[in-house]
Amino acid sequence: MNVPRELIVSKPFLWVNPSKNKELTLDQTDMERARADWDQFSPLLEALFDNPTIDSELKTLTGVHIWRPAKAHWLKEDSALPVAGSIKARGGFFEVLSHARELALKEGVITEEDRMSDLASRMDFFREYSLHVASTGNLGMSIGLMGRSLGFQVYVHMSADAKEWKKELLRSRGAEVIEYDGDYSEAVIRGRQASEKDPKGYFVDDERSLRLFWGYSKAGYDLQAQLPDNITEEHPLFVSIPCGVGGAPGGIAYALKALYANRVHIFFAEPLEAPAVLLGMATGKGEEIRVQDIGLTGKTLADGLAVGKPSGFVCEQMEEVLSGIYTVKDEALQAMQYRLFQEEGIKCEPSACAGLLLPYYMSTEAGKAYLEKEGIREEDIRYVYWATGGSRVPDGIFREQLEEGKQVLKEHPDIFTIE
Ligand SMILES: Cc1ncc(COP(=O)(O)O)c(C=O)c1O
Repeated sequence: MNVPRELIVSKPFLWVNPSKNKELTLDQTDMERARADWDQFSPLLEALFDNPTIDSELKTLTGVHIWRPAKAHWLKEDSALPVAGSIKARGGFFEVLSHARELALKEGVITEEDRMSDLASRMDFFREYSLHVASTGNLGMSIGLMGRSLGFQVYVHMSADAKEWKKELLRSRGAEVIEYDGDYSEAVIRGRQASEKDPKGYFVDDERSLRLFWGYSKAGYDLQAQLPDNITEEHPLFVSIPCGVGGAPGGIAYALKALYANRVHIFFAEPLEAPAVLLGMATGKGEEIRVQDIGLTGKTLADGLAVGKPSGFVCEQMEEVLSGIYTVKDEALQAMQYRLFQEEGIKCEPSACAGLLLPYYMSTEAGKAYLEKEGIREEDIRYVYWATGGSRVPDGIFREQLEEGKQVLKEHPDIFTIE
C-alpha cells in the first residue's frame, strides 16, 4: 500500500496528486442547479435572518505574507459567513432549506408558485419533523441554527473533539446535543442509526450527502464574482482550503475547477494527526482506510478538521481535480491564528488558519518541483486562502487562544518553516 512516509513519521509535507488531469472538463449541471436553488431560497433567508445571501468578503491581506513574491494574497472570509460563522453554513443551510422545501411541497404546505419566504412562519408544520446530524462542531451549528429557525427538532451527534461553547450555543437554541466519547466516524454511525429509528427524521450525512456537496459549490460562483477577469494560466489562482471529511473543500474545489480549469490550482490542508483525505487519496482506498490504521491518533486541536476517515465520494471527485494536500502542525495553526489577528484584525479559529500556510509549502522541494512542472513563477500566483470559521468564537476563549499562539511564536519563531 502506497502510504507516504512523511504521514507515518508525522512530518509536515506537501503531497502532490499524481492523478491531476490537465485536460479535465467537468459537468456543471448540478452546480448550476444548486445556484438556482440558492437564488430561490434568498427571500426565505431574508425573512429569517434579514440576509438574502450566504457569502463572505474577499479581502486583500495587508500584513501576512506580503513579503512573499506573489501577485496577490487574498483571504476568502467564510469565517464570517452570516448566522453560523463557518464554511459549513454553505452546505448545511442548503441541505436544510432543500429538505424543508421538499417536505412543504410534498405535504401541500406550499405549491411551486408560492414564495419560499412563506415557510419562515410555518414552525407549526416543521415542528413535526426532525433533523439529525453528526458533527465535530461547525456542521452541527449550521444545521442546528437553520433547523431551529424553521422550527425543526434538531439532534446533533457530537464527537469528543467538539468544543463546549458550540454545544452550549446549540442547546440555547433548543437543539438536543448528544455527546460521544469516540471520534467523528463513531458519531456519524450513531447519528445515522438514531435517524433511521425516527420515522420523521432526516439525516444530514457529512460523508455522503450530495446536497451538502452542491450547496458548498456555490462558493465557486461567489468567488468568481469577486475576482478580476484577468486570471490566466500564466497568472493563475492558487487556492488552499482546510479539509476535514472533505465535503466543503471538495464542493468548492469542484466548482472552481469547472469554472477556471487550468487557471486554478487547488490544495487542501489537513492536520498532521488527521490527514484523512490525503491518506484516502494517496492510497486509493478512499473511505476504506482511517488514519488510525497507520498509527496516527486522529487527535488535533483543529476540531473542525479532526476526522480520521474521509468521504469516499469526495476522494473520488477530487482524483483528477486536486493539485495536492499538505499537512500542518497544530502549533503552526495556533501561531497563524495569532498573526492573522495581529496583522489583519481577522478572527479565525485554529482549523480555519490551515489554508494560510500554503506559501511555505510552495517553497519546499515538492512545491518548487510542482511550479516548475506547471511552468508557473511564484511571483505570478494569486493566492486565495480560504478562512473557514471563527467569527462566533466567544471573546474570552478567543483571547486565550491568541495567548497560546503568541507563546508558540515566541518559543518557535521558525514554526512556519517546512524542511
Ligand atoms: C472551520 C472548519 N474548516 C474546515 C472544515 C472542513 O470541512 P469538511 O469537514 O467538509 O472537509 C470544517 C469542518 O467542520 C470546519 O469546521
